[in-house]
This record gives sequence, C-alpha cells and structure tokens, in this order.
Amino acid sequence: MQVLGLETSCDETGVALFDTERGIVAQALHSQIELHAVYGGVVPEIASRDHIRRLLPLVREVLNEAGTEHPDAIAYTAGPGLVGALMVAGGLANGLALAWDCPVIPVHHMEGHLLAVMLEDDPPAYPFLALLVSGGHTMLVSVSALGDYRVLGSTLDDAVGEAFDKTAKLLGLEYPGGPALAQLATAGAEDAYRFPRPMLNKEGLDFSFSGLKTAVMLVVRKARADGEIEAVRADIAASFQRAAIDTLVAKTLRAAKSEKLDRVVVAGGVGANQLLRTELAARFSGRVCYPRPDLCTDNGAMIALAGAMRLADGEKADNIQALARWSLETLARPQTTSPDYS
Ligand code: KG4
Ligand code: ZN
Repeated sequence: MQVLGLETSCDETGVALFDTERGIVAQALHSQIELHAVYGGVVPEIASRDHIRRLLPLVREVLNEAGTEHPDAIAYTAGPGLVGALMVAGGLANGLALAWDCPVIPVHHMEGHLLAVMLEDDPPAYPFLALLVSGGHTMLVSVSALGDYRVLGSTLDDAVGEAFDKTAKLLGLEYPGGPALAQLATAGAEDAYRFPRPMLNKEGLDFSFSGLKTAVMLVVRKARADGEIEAVRADIAASFQRAAIDTLVAKTLRAAKSEKLDRVVVAGGVGANQLLRTELAARFSGRVCYPRPDLCTDNGAMIALAGAMRLADGEKADNIQALARWSLETLARPQTTSPDYS
C-alpha cells in the first residue's frame, strides 16, 4: 500500500510517498525559514499562504518522482499546530481523497515525530521512552504501543527549541537560531556563567524554560551596557546550551528510571543538538535511537508512516480536522498489532 503524507502544521511544507513494502519512495520539503526570518519568528498568516502556494506542486513532484499516478491513501497532519496552516493539508488531502476515491487519515503531529524512528533500520521495540524536543514542544512520553502514549512531563511555558531560538535572537543570531547558537557555543566556555537548571530541584518530569531565558536576558543586557557583549557572546551561548541540555538529560534519565525503560527515542529539531547526543550517550546506560536528521525535523514521511500504521488497523475519517491543541493521550490504541515497516 502507498500512502501520501502531507505536513503543513508550522513553517515547513512536507510531502512524502511511503510504501508499506519498500519504505520511503519519494519525498520533498519546502522550508519557509527565509520568509519568517525578517520577523524573528513564524507569522501564521504568511505560513498558511505559503503552504497553499507550495503544497500541490510538491505533491506533483513526489508522485512524478515515484512514478505513481495516485496513492492508495492520504495522511495529513491534523494538529497540533497553526490552524490556518493545518487547514491547507487537511483541505487538499480531503479533496484529493474524493477525487481519487481513497481513504484519508488525520495524523497527530507528535505521534508522527515519535514514530519517525520506525523508518530507520533496526527500530526500537515497544515499550520505549520518547523525548520530543522541537520548536513547539518539549515532552517525555512513555510509549507502550501504537496509540498507547502516556505523557510523563511537558513544558509549562517555552519549548526548548523556542528557548534556543529566543536566546539566539538575544545574541543577534538569525531565526531559527538553534543550530547557529549551538555553533557559536563551540567557541565558548560552558562554565563561564552558571545559569539555572529549571525544575531540576523539583520532583516530577515537567519542564520550564522561561526562567533560564530571563537569566540569559539579564546577563546579555549587562554585557551590552558594559560594552562587553562581543567578547562574551560565545560564553553565554555555551553556558545556556549546557544548562538547557543538562535539564533535558537529567529529566530523561529520571523518567527512564521511574518507568524502568531502557530504550529512549529522541525526536524533534533539538534532537539534532550534538551536546544532547553526547551527553545522553555518556549518561544513559540503555539504547538511544534517533531518526536521521531530515526525519528528526518536520517532514511528510513521518506523517505518511503514522497514517499507514493507523490505516493498517482500519482507521479512517471523513471530515477535515484541524486542531490547534490536541492531547497525545487521547489517541486510541488500535485493536490489532501493527506490521513492522522498517
Ligand atoms: O521539529 P522542528 O523542525 O520543528 C518544530 O516542530 O518545531 O524543530 C525546530 C526547532 C527550532 O527551535 C530549532 O532552533 C531547533 O529545533 N534546533 C536546534 C538544533 N537544530 C534545530 N536546537 C538546538 N541545537 C540544534 N542543533
Ligand atoms: Zn514538529
């Protein structure tokens, strides 16, 4: 079965064709980063309009590359995300499904992220712990099976990627600043400033990054006033990164221990962070799995895969869904065991 996956929940238009026998057959992605960079963050209306411009040509490109006239099913991200942006894939998916007379399936964006690792060779078996770290989410999820998710902790304010982006902006780096900040940090001393490790001294598995952001802001302000900012930018970046990553790693270890899980899957854009990878490898005794970098960030393939797994269990929907907020825990657990698509 071939499933077309459409992703338009934020600032990336992602399309992929996934074959349940052959894996990813073709995929295409258009990033809107340049469009939003001048504003320092994603502008929802601009995002929706660009998805409208890009989505259909990308679908054509993927189907041409795959040599497929039309797929057997269509999966689209139905939420959580920017509602106007979500409506673009939702509308097109449902229109094409009518034209092609095929099933259409709404997919939870975070389920897509946490299943993306199943597209890799030797994917982890259930159960595992998922650390989902992106520009919009910071979550620890206990994954027992497809659709059986327990959110153990999430952020009370900023997502970790957002904290990277806002700190990068304070340091004069372009949006999205995460990768640039990580690069700048390589030239700095991570013990130059002792920034707070938010929520580490509190019980539980929730995160909070706004206090860390404020602490960095105060240091940046003082450095600017003292005319020293150029000399300490890299030190601030390195010290911030160390505090953020220490927090993620400590909570991940805490969750794995309390849930007695010896496999961790890391997904979402911040999963590309090298310090996070090194620290988890050094401090976690179990197995840590990552999707390859282009499957870590937003993409159509993870949506196609999640749709294929759910369709295999007989799920379908006949109305367009676009949900700004959508709890991962409300997803149903299918009745049958899903096939292995690795
Ligand atoms: O998953 P993603 O592509 O999109 C969302 O669903 O948000 O994640 C993007 C986020 C951005 O905040 C970006 O700055 C961050 O991931 N990011 C990084 C790195 N690469 C991307 N943050 C820290 N270090 C990196 N190397
Ligand atoms: Zn995402």
